Amino acid sequence: MSKQTLTVTDNRTGKTYEFPIKDGTINAMDIRNIKVDDNDFGLMSYDPAYQNTASCRSSITYIDGDKGILLYRGYPIEQLAEHSNFVEVAYLLLNGELPGKDQYEKFRHEVTVHTFVHENLKKFMEGFRYDANPMGILIGTLGALGTFYPNAINVNDAGERRLNVIRLIAKMPTIAAWAYRQSMGMPYVYPDNELSLAGNFLAMIKRIAEHRYIPNPKLERALDVLFILHADHEQNCSTSVMRGAGSSLTDPYSAVAAATAALYGPLHGGANAEVLHMLDEIGSRDRIPEFIAKCKEGKARLMGFGHRVYKNFDPRSRIIQKLAHEVFEITGSNPKLDLALEIEKIALQDEYFIKRKLYPNVDFYSGLIYQAMGFPVGMFPVLFAIGRVVGWLAQWQEMLNDKEQKIARPRQIYTGAASRDFVPMNRR
Ligand code: ACO
Repeated sequence: MSKQTLTVTDNRTGKTYEFPIKDGTINAMDIRNIKVDDNDFGLMSYDPAYQNTASCRSSITYIDGDKGILLYRGYPIEQLAEHSNFVEVAYLLLNGELPGKDQYEKFRHEVTVHTFVHENLKKFMEGFRYDANPMGILIGTLGALGTFYPNAINVNDAGERRLNVIRLIAKMPTIAAWAYRQSMGMPYVYPDNELSLAGNFLAMIKRIAEHRYIPNPKLERALDVLFILHADHEQNCSTSVMRGAGSSLTDPYSAVAAATAALYGPLHGGANAEVLHMLDEIGSRDRIPEFIAKCKEGKARLMGFGHRVYKNFDPRSRIIQKLAHEVFEITGSNPKLDLALEIEKIALQDEYFIKRKLYPNVDFYSGLIYQAMGFPVGMFPVLFAIGRVVGWLAQWQEMLNDKEQKIARPRQIYTGAASRDFVPMNRR
């Protein structure tokens, strides 16, 4: 076998260095040994947006962006979406293996009995302005939730960690549904622990005066599958924030609030809402070519297309496309779906998109499904967060158990002024 090392020559000094290559990487700290002289800090790598930096070892999620493969703990996403459910997938992501019957029942029971929140949290949520954005409510409320569990700061205590992981997974749908009710000016609905996680969430969203809300089983299943598809995606923006915030050993509620804030942005969890805005802007089939031309000129982006990692196809988008049709059969046809399908067809045959490997991502269809189910656009990233909280927590646990991890603290290339003396205001 060839030698698993990298040899480099520093042309400033003529010195040669040899670094081990492990798992397709060199250790960034090794290159610090490359110095011009003893006073030199040492060489660093410059990698804005971490496009070529592995920041951790992880055994949770595997993605092969070129082949369009997504595995949770080794299981293909397609099989999990077809045969599993969100609670079972949560157990898998957190524990590494699929649960046996008793393990599943215990876990399902735990994430069900922890759905209720302290009444003071409800009062806290009622304090938001009548038209507050539900994602803003979610971020603020998750931070506040941590104040009810002061022991959560003991992140090195495995029992405490586990309890707060369960609480967060269980209470997320309750807070998410109440954020919706608050933003709609509707009374909050308490959890119904006889229902599934997705069914209970739908009940807390939809129930008005009926004694009990019975969710449509197909919509309940569709939502459950969407939660599975969004549950983890290795080191994406919000997960990196979860790990970064968690690396200071803050409590998981604060770290999840930070991750939720990262998810809010239009290039991440907000992309599916942008897809709907784009479809509104395009309006009709005859205006598609005009919009595609704008994309090619760099004046617009085809939202829901392209991915930093998937350069072939996003396996989640295939599942979600099928799901979209099943949902529309129940909720009725939607001209936006036809428009989206037509755009997809045109873009997939267009040289510009083919050359840049731009394919539909998970957000291309998720927004259409959420809209058909009656969710306002502001709720889309909130729905994403219900699924993704599982991945955030699995990655956070893994980080805390990883001896190689420390507080996250990147370096910079300083581009500011050199040291200078303060000038009093009357002399400026
Ligand atoms: N529409 C048109 N052109 C695009 C698009 C798009 N959606 N995405 C990328 N491009 C073009 C760029 O203009 C660039 O072209 P150039 O080489 O001629 O300059 C080329 O493709 C490469 O684009 P980058 O921005 O360098 O790719 P990057 O990997 O950084 O971006 C991203 C990935 C942010 C997802 C991008 O494709 C995008 O903005 N897509 C639309 C937003 C979206 O759908 N986001 C959801 C992501 S999935 C998620 O977060 C769950």
